[in-house]
Amino acid sequence: MGNFLLLAAVLWTLLLAGRGSGTTAARVVDQAVKLQSSVKETSFSPQRLLGPLDNDESGSVKRYIAQHMSGKSDEGFYGIIATMDVYGFNLTTQQYTHGALVLYDQVDRAVTSINIIQIGWEVAPARYGDSRTHLGSMWTTDGYTKTSCRNADCAFVPEKGAPMALGGVIHPVSQPNGPKQTITIKVIKDGIMGDWLVYYGFNGDNPVLIGHYPKSIFTGGLANRAAGLQFGGYVWNNATTLAPMGSGYLPKDDVVTAATMSNIQFIDQSGHPYPVPQDSHAYMTDSNIYAANPIVNGRFFYGGPSR
Ligand SMILES: *[C@@H]1O[C@H](CO)[C@@H](O)[C@H](O)[C@H]1NC(C)=O
Ligand SMILES: *[C@@H]1O[C@H](CO)[C@@H](O)[C@H](O)[C@H]1NC(C)=O
Repeated sequence: MGNFLLLAAVLWTLLLAGRGSGTTAARVVDQAVKLQSSVKETSFSPQRLLGPLDNDESGSVKRYIAQHMSGKSDEGFYGIIATMDVYGFNLTTQQYTHGALVLYDQVDRAVTSINIIQIGWEVAPARYGDSRTHLGSMWTTDGYTKTSCRNADCAFVPEKGAPMALGGVIHPVSQPNGPKQTITIKVIKDGIMGDWLVYYGFNGDNPVLIGHYPKSIFTGGLANRAAGLQFGGYVWNNATTLAPMGSGYLPKDDVVTAATMSNIQFIDQSGHPYPVPQDSHAYMTDSNIYAANPIVNGRFFYGGPSR
């Protein structure tokens, strides 16, 4: 259990660090791997993994996670489906927010053997030069040390005529007290070619194929299946101003205004979806600031401050 949470923290830290600083990612993971061999569940301290970390651009950066996790499975996972509300914020280049699905695998204990595909909605002014809400994705085959790519910058093969592209703007977005706008994302391993197919739908439309990550990107790990899945929110920001996660509202008191992920399903080796287990574990960096509620009927609420 301790190792399990630790791995979750490591992966998210990698995702966050993957923003540009391979050395930062490597350092965090070294730390994590050392901890992993010594830590007991009772002494587990995720904060030690998450900070403090230097950001290449803005000095002191804080990273927060509120997510659920499948845990690692020997049988593995062949995909994930989820529907998420999407939100919009006017953020600065020192803030980042992401609602994401993560598929990962690790060939051995080395950090550089961690394969990750992550995809979801994000507001990332430092990345896009605007504060709009984008469909954002990233992958790595070495724990974000050297080899990684964003959106369709490399390797991802967009589907011709697809209604949405990785990196594309999602519009309109939800109002916390008003109508919800949702995206449905499905990432599924093609049974014949072994590519990871990406489907996207807006506001309940049937998700359509928008492209794929070729199996050949991944040397081990995700070439065959994912060992684990994670899904939830994460943010980073500078030391003084928090970024909103989800809708910006904590799910504690008033779930009406909090963001959701719903219809969450995992996909088995035969390509069949099945409901996310109710007792899936949550991991939160600081649940007083950003929280993820338990999963009920394939759905959970998550997020936290500002608004
Ligand atoms: C961002 O700011 C602009 C200009 O003030 C405003 O029109 C827009 O509604 C804001 N967007 C959000 C999501 O708050
Ligand atoms: C932190 O970010 C906020 C807004 O994102 C900005 O207003 C503030 O000046 C930044 N603080 C520092 C110390 O850079």
